[in-house]
Amino acid sequence: MHPTDSSLLNRLGIAAPIIQAPMAGVSTPALAAAVSNAGGLGSLGIGAMNAEAAREAIRATRALTAGPFNVNLFCHEPAQSDSTREGAWLQYLASVFAEFGATPPASLREIYQSLRTDSAMVQMLVEERPAVVSFHFGLPGQEIVRMLHEAGIVLLACATSLAEARQIEAAGIDAIVAQGVEAGGHRGVFDPREFDEGLGTLALTRLLVRETGLPVIAAGGIMDGAGIAAALALGAHAAQLGTAFVPCPESAADEAYRSVLLSRAAPPTTMTRAISGRPARGLSNRFTALGLAAEAPGIPDYPIAYDAGKALHAAAKAQGSADFAAQWAGQAVALSRAMPAAELVRQLLLELDEAVAGLAQARPRPL
Ligand SMILES: Cc1cc2nc3c(=O)[nH]c(=O)nc-3n(C[C@H](O)[C@H](O)[C@H](O)COP(=O)(O)O)c2cc1C
Repeated sequence: MHPTDSSLLNRLGIAAPIIQAPMAGVSTPALAAAVSNAGGLGSLGIGAMNAEAAREAIRATRALTAGPFNVNLFCHEPAQSDSTREGAWLQYLASVFAEFGATPPASLREIYQSLRTDSAMVQMLVEERPAVVSFHFGLPGQEIVRMLHEAGIVLLACATSLAEARQIEAAGIDAIVAQGVEAGGHRGVFDPREFDEGLGTLALTRLLVRETGLPVIAAGGIMDGAGIAAALALGAHAAQLGTAFVPCPESAADEAYRSVLLSRAAPPTTMTRAISGRPARGLSNRFTALGLAAEAPGIPDYPIAYDAGKALHAAAKAQGSADFAAQWAGQAVALSRAMPAAELVRQLLLELDEAVAGLAQARPRPL
């Protein structure tokens, strides 16, 4: 028996307080289904797909599990194109493209749409009715929230601050993902132009548990059962783990990404905007250094900058280099381990039980 109020888990239809984080480009139907079949909540990151590709991913997952799973979408403010800024950024990257015998694209595109403006995606979700839908980078409009709720879908949204959590509560969302600054991947901040306090998972989880009326799911830097126990002790109903699932054989991570995650010599993580246009935490490499350089020009809007980032990575990868890859990872990446996802869920639950038993023993006793 895990020390968690079961009401959110009941609503999500899961037995274990473990959510495999949605990871655009890394999570797969096989990964999500393996986690759901093991009693956790698997997730698909479909934020960078169009409605038809997303529908196929949902159907492929359904073919592998009868359990519930989560489908995650991006709700960022649609990008503002600025050809001067984009041109300067491409010029800045040109010498690195040249190193790999490539030229930068002539111009950059908004490579995927925000759910806020994607009516085909909303329609697809209403038709497919995944058990759970989660939002990153903000919220969709109230009409979309109403349509998804009417379709019987449980809704989650990511907050990095109390102010964002209050907006999530006001929008009638069912639970909040509290994403600490330790987390791998993109920070879920609603508006990247605003001041970001960078709250850690411990402070943020506790703040949201105490200050909002919604169930909280803790995310960021959680890699094992002891981390999950800590999240539950703070009052979270579940923990969401991303980095921990990247090395699973079911993920879409390429060989270079897997091996550096598991290497004891992995570089430290950095928060960077250079790869996509929004702050995201990943392993430091030549790309994150380019973003930090004093002479770096203004970075184009998200996801326009990602068009350049993906082209640069493709050019480098074609020449055998992973120096410009987006290797998203959280601060506790050194605790990564490689095992099939179902085995990882089982291992996490064993460790959670051990940690809970250890905590009970550690209780102060009368002298
Ligand atoms: C490779 C990777 C991709 C991610 N992509 C998404 C995404 O598409 N949508 C999302 O809401 N969160 C995404 N995240 C963030 C996770 O939801 C979560 O906040 C984070 O993984 C938690 O920190 P951890 O990596 O230390 O466990 C991603 C994280 C990683 C590591």
